[in-house]
Amino acid sequence: MDNFDYRDGVLHAEDLPLSAIADAVGTPVYIYSRATLERHAQVFRDALAILPRVHIAFAIKANPNLAVLRVMSREGLGADVVSGGELARALAAGMPPQDIVFSGVGKQQHEMIQGLEAGIGQFNLESEEEGIELAALAAERGLTAACALRVNPDVDARTHAKISTGKAENKFGVPIDRGADIYARLAALPGLAMRGVAVHIGSQLSELGPFEEAFAKVGALIAEIRASGHAVTHADLGGGLGVPYKAGEVYPSPQEYAEMVARATAGWDVTLMFEPGRVICGNAGVLLTRVIRVKRSSNKAPFVVVDAAMNDLARPAMYGAWHDFDAVQPTGEKMTAHIVGPICETGDTFAMDRETDALQAGDLAVFRTAGAYGATMASSYNSRGFVAEVMVDGENWAVVADRILPAAISAAERVPDFLD
Ligand code: LLP
Repeated sequence: MDNFDYRDGVLHAEDLPLSAIADAVGTPVYIYSRATLERHAQVFRDALAILPRVHIAFAIKANPNLAVLRVMSREGLGADVVSGGELARALAAGMPPQDIVFSGVGKQQHEMIQGLEAGIGQFNLESEEEGIELAALAAERGLTAACALRVNPDVDARTHAKISTGKAENKFGVPIDRGADIYARLAALPGLAMRGVAVHIGSQLSELGPFEEAFAKVGALIAEIRASGHAVTHADLGGGLGVPYKAGEVYPSPQEYAEMVARATAGWDVTLMFEPGRVICGNAGVLLTRVIRVKRSSNKAPFVVVDAAMNDLARPAMYGAWHDFDAVQPTGEKMTAHIVGPICETGDTFAMDRETDALQAGDLAVFRTAGAYGATMASSYNSRGFVAEVMVDGENWAVVADRILPAAISAAERVPDFLD
């Protein structure tokens, strides 16, 4: 459920017609609904309330906009961060340091120090090497880093290969069959307090089976670690729950997910940690765009050339992802079209042969479900600017990220003297 609905024939974000935002801010622009963000945080939290002890850390990578993070922190969510930049954002948004988890396979020493000095709640270690480095950095400072060991359960998440993380050949975590040994060695290091295990098998999962398979392996590992005399008080089950991108698709609900988790983790006696991203913010955002022109083609359907491009929304080019595309003021007529952006490569295609609302030059339209992995994956390719972001709250709205113009980007570049 989201808050992007037609009223009097015009698509609104909450109580605001999207055309008002286009008039004021221009296009392309990402638009987030505060009410949808809040609702999704609440639905996820309420679903997990059937579990004994729970910590929810919003995966900032899905949408790191400071206003979005502020909504999450007001809802009591912590943060899952994967870089020093994300850590700074979580703190700036008011997330308490102890609610922050630091994930990621390539944490650099300056980032570990940043986390230690901020007093974050947990580091998710992705290798023994990383644990040894962190232990030394913590011990030098007289600190102790609470840690979980991320394991790779070798489970097929049955999602897109580029966002699958739990197969043995993926770079993430330590092989689960070596987990107990590595955990024991890390637990012996001064500077570390090993307290748990972590797993994240991929993103945009459409079925619960792979989660359950992975969690069963994690349960066995927890028993093995405990049997060798070490404490496990936390289990971080990652994120990954998928969302529908096509109207009418049905995905497992947060309630069904929580029931599966309750089954899979019965008797673990740990604090269960979660790192949801997409399921919280995915359909809380749209990318609003204007049709530049409709170009006839020899390929039957015409090209609808819009002012958004693969640099603004990379998912279709990168993963072949589908985003529903709807007119802001549909006439009721339909057309079949190829939806493309202005960038000079064929990869800049949002959809081929898409049955869509009839559109003409100047019309506004949206790509839906663009609130996760949208603006944050933008680039300035083709010397386009960085897209603006807006948050709507009832009939109020605010620009929550300025459009960065091409001139501001080139202003950071220099021609060296030796080229004079
Ligand atoms: N935790 C960890 C350790 C992760 O790597 C991720 C996502 C999450 C949590 C959040 O997963 P979610 O609940 O959002 O599925 N750019 C891709 C998605 C990449 C996901 C990377 N990791 C896309 O646009 O589909």
